[in-house]
Amino acid sequence: MPTTFTLNGAQQTLDAPPEMPLLWAVRDLAGLTGTKYGCGVGLCGACTVHVDGEAVRACLVTLDEVDGKTVTTIEGLDPEGEHPVQRAWRELNVPQCGFCQAGQIMQAASLIAAKPDITDAEILEGMRGNVCRCGCYQRIVAAVRHAATGI
Ligand code: FES
Ligand code: FES
Repeated sequence: MPTTFTLNGAQQTLDAPPEMPLLWAVRDLAGLTGTKYGCGVGLCGACTVHVDGEAVRACLVTLDEVDGKTVTTIEGLDPEGEHPVQRAWRELNVPQCGFCQAGQIMQAASLIAAKPDITDAEILEGMRGNVCRCGCYQRIVAAVRHAATGI
């Protein structure tokens, strides 16, 4: 039975097995390749998207679990790339290779939406599940702080 959900603001109906990981669906069926496959088991955060505004690991969520819900990927966070987190990322030159960065940005966006006055300790806690093999962690924390507070 097809799954219907809102993907980046548009209704999407996918005729695919209900147990298919959302990550496969957005990349291979919807063609949105900004969301990355890292580990496939919920350990790296590269696949982070929003489901009804909350950051989730798309490798662990199945298609049937998003039926009727709203999914946002990095492509839909801000069509112009001007979300405060994206602006902060550019201003602080956060990425190196870039592979983890869509997931980092999606995680950060949900964190500061939930708590605009976030502290550094809360940023560290909230971002700890997002791995960066290039080790951009100091700039990531600084950029989340900058996006949230302007500092
Ligand atoms: S690919 Fe989903 S957490 Fe690593
Ligand atoms: S920028 Fe390379 S993995 Fe994070």
